[in-house]
Amino acid sequence: MTKYFSSLNQDINLPVLKELRKKAVEDDVPIIQEDGLRFIRQLLTIKKPKRILEIGTAIGYSTIAMALFSDAFITTVERDEMRANEAKMNIEEAGLSDRIQLIKGDALEIDITQFKAVDILFIDAAKAQNIKFFEQYQSLVKEGGLIITDNLLFHGLFDEEVDSRNVRQLLRKINDFNEYILDRKGYDTVIYEIGDGMSVSIKKGGNR
Ligand SMILES: C[S@@+](CC[C@H](N)C(=O)[O-])C[C@H]1O[C@@H](n2cnc3c(N)ncnc32)[C@H](O)[C@@H]1O
Repeated sequence: MTKYFSSLNQDINLPVLKELRKKAVEDDVPIIQEDGLRFIRQLLTIKKPKRILEIGTAIGYSTIAMALFSDAFITTVERDEMRANEAKMNIEEAGLSDRIQLIKGDALEIDITQFKAVDILFIDAAKAQNIKFFEQYQSLVKEGGLIITDNLLFHGLFDEEVDSRNVRQLLRKINDFNEYILDRKGYDTVIYEIGDGMSVSIKKGGNR
């Protein structure tokens, strides 16, 4: 990103978000990049969602941000017990417990019939499992709804020689997902070079 570009856009972090971002950086918790969040804020303003489902809460930074940037009721799922506990505390401290439901558990193992239909599904969990998350949860998204996925360009590593076999494997899985969503029938998808690479898939009506 050029210095000129970063100087054009304001910091969107409200005090509560600034504090959480600081905590996440200190504790090495991966959270959405600032320009990715700025992009999501605009999508929320345009879409005016009533319900959002997030897979991958971490400490609740993006969850709290989405609650502050919309009037939506948000359900968020986190499998890491410690992070989920911290997210719960952060949500309470932000005074958002009545608009955010936190579910502790593995998103690939929980019963999805408990969820209501959503306007936005935000997938931001284990990157290698993106196809599984998409397949498991896409039926909950209303026609005209959005599925947003983060980290699809994975720190620019697709353009580099990667020594680690594990990272190469992860890149292959992310690439499989990227090809999968661009081809997926019933959705109109664009991958943006925003944040760490974000896709927005718009669910079409009927079986198109
Ligand atoms: C990138 S972090 C989420 C960041 C958060 N959305 C933010 O921007 O503030 C990914 C989180 O997903 C969680 N996760 C990974 N796989 C999961 C799964 N199968 N079910 C639930 N949570 C999962 C991880 O424990 C981790 O805390």
